[in-house]
Amino acid sequence: MCGIIGYCGPRQAADILIEGLKRLEYRGYDSAGIAVGNHEIKLEKRQGYVSLLRGKLEGNVGIGHTRWATHGAPDDRNSHPFTGCSGEFAIVHNGIMENYKELKQELLSRGHRFSSDTDSEVFVHILEEEYEKTGDFREAFFDSVSKLEGSFAILAIHRGEEKIMGIKKDSPLIVGKGNGENFAASDIPAFLPYTSEIAIMKDGEVCEIERSSIRFYDMRGTPVEKKFRFVDWSPDAAEKAGYEHFMLKEIFEQPMAIENTIHSLFSRDFQIGPYPKIDIIGCGTSYNAGMLGKYFIEKTLGIPVQVHYASEYRLRPPIRENPMSVFITQSGETADTIAAAKLARSRGCPTLAITNVIGSSITNSVEHVIHTSAGPEVGVAATKTFIAQVTALYYLGMSVGRSASMLSEKTYSGLMDGMRRLPRLIEAALESEQRISSVSRLLKDSNSIFYIGRGFNYPVSMEGALKMKEISYIHAEAYPAGELKHGPLALISGGTPVIAIVSRDETYDKMLSNIREVSARGATVIAISHEEEVDDYADYRIEVPEADDLFSPFANTVVVQLLAYHTARLRGCEIDKPRNLAKSVTVE
Ligand code: M6R
Repeated sequence: MCGIIGYCGPRQAADILIEGLKRLEYRGYDSAGIAVGNHEIKLEKRQGYVSLLRGKLEGNVGIGHTRWATHGAPDDRNSHPFTGCSGEFAIVHNGIMENYKELKQELLSRGHRFSSDTDSEVFVHILEEEYEKTGDFREAFFDSVSKLEGSFAILAIHRGEEKIMGIKKDSPLIVGKGNGENFAASDIPAFLPYTSEIAIMKDGEVCEIERSSIRFYDMRGTPVEKKFRFVDWSPDAAEKAGYEHFMLKEIFEQPMAIENTIHSLFSRDFQIGPYPKIDIIGCGTSYNAGMLGKYFIEKTLGIPVQVHYASEYRLRPPIRENPMSVFITQSGETADTIAAAKLARSRGCPTLAITNVIGSSITNSVEHVIHTSAGPEVGVAATKTFIAQVTALYYLGMSVGRSASMLSEKTYSGLMDGMRRLPRLIEAALESEQRISSVSRLLKDSNSIFYIGRGFNYPVSMEGALKMKEISYIHAEAYPAGELKHGPLALISGGTPVIAIVSRDETYDKMLSNIREVSARGATVIAISHEEEVDDYADYRIEVPEADDLFSPFANTVVVQLLAYHTARLRGCEIDKPRNLAKSVTVE
């Protein structure tokens, strides 16, 4: 999983490429590089962040890459772009070339010398061979991509030509049309300061980009008509807007993320279901969103919902019934989730994806798509996309319930009112930031933190623990509070922090007992609760606004996000780019 960008126009390509790559760094930041060409191709690449590139290359056409290593160590040698033996071409690649070993073997036997351990480099060598046959860059590009298997978004340039050739298959590629200049990139924010007129490429499409023209083809070379459209993201939406980190900015954008998601969902008439059973599939935070969806749908509709990790779902043998299968992925590019969706579809399950990225790969693998409208999320730790996913799942449940007459009009409209109040609820929860920041001091030197909750607050605990370990590198575990005494309680000793999420619902009294149990073993209990009575049980309490059982998880989520954020900040962690992680995980 990597980010790629291409530029062709009157400006210095190096400047545009480096600026764009910085906005793509969420996709990987092991190394970065650019190639700029006119009469000759000049290259700069190195291990580490994009900011390490000097960008002093002259030229008006170029390509760039920011890498999350898969094949080959994250070092200078394996950084993109690659220029092959002749230096006539440069290429960047995002994805996996599955047949690269065979291709590399053949190329080696014909005298090609490789400079890296990557799968990607084979492509530039193939391009060199194909070009020798015809002397035509475009033709050579088509012939070369026809030899590839796997997933790829590739951009290539040729010495002496002001042209970029690109292909998309199972990895994203978006083309941006400017005024006398054109762009291509893995994601829209990369070129958003220059143009908001975009075309999203579909699998198997090739683009040919010059300063004042963009042409699209299918893989056989037949021209394809594509519509450009305007996106209404301001360039600022992809910047930090004064916040210290993208993650914090994105946490504070949650009222808007919900507002926009609700707005786009409510304007759509879902006639969906009824379904006797629902499967929800995702990874990481998307899995946790699925868990909240399960609690909501089971409670309001009584339909059984099973939530699966996408990587495990794929090991599942066919089962007798084909449940409605809902795939959640903010990026729409997670390899395990896409593979799971393809599997479910091949087995005849009705499939639906919830994703934040329009035109992302998952949308080609399912029958129905719900777009969340959280806006671009740059921080590797998912926050506003989680809230938007849960919002979409609630709405999905309500729509299924309504169209199958499982919800009365009164209940449905009560739920709609609750949904409409969500942005305000989140704003009220955000007001506790000061308090959360000071409580984080208690956590910053911990070795291990436990999160406990029951019912709806169990998935919130899971999400809290995931956020904490992801960005602060503190070991954190979530348990349904009732499970503690079945083993984990042995880990509680003097001063162990326990975050207890306590809502005034059917779980309330039991949660108070669970707090007593851990307190008795010396734990330091930090409760997230609206109830003042909890002060008698916990060592510290973070106030959350009062909310109905079904909606309190939204407010509690904000608190666990901020708790992780402030703890990581006090520890001086790289919050937006945690070690070893990347924003979208396109390997299995
Ligand atoms: O793009 P996806 O929603 O499919 O990503 C799934 C996970 O990789 C992702 O949620 C990951 O767990 C986040 N970094 C968590 O903050």
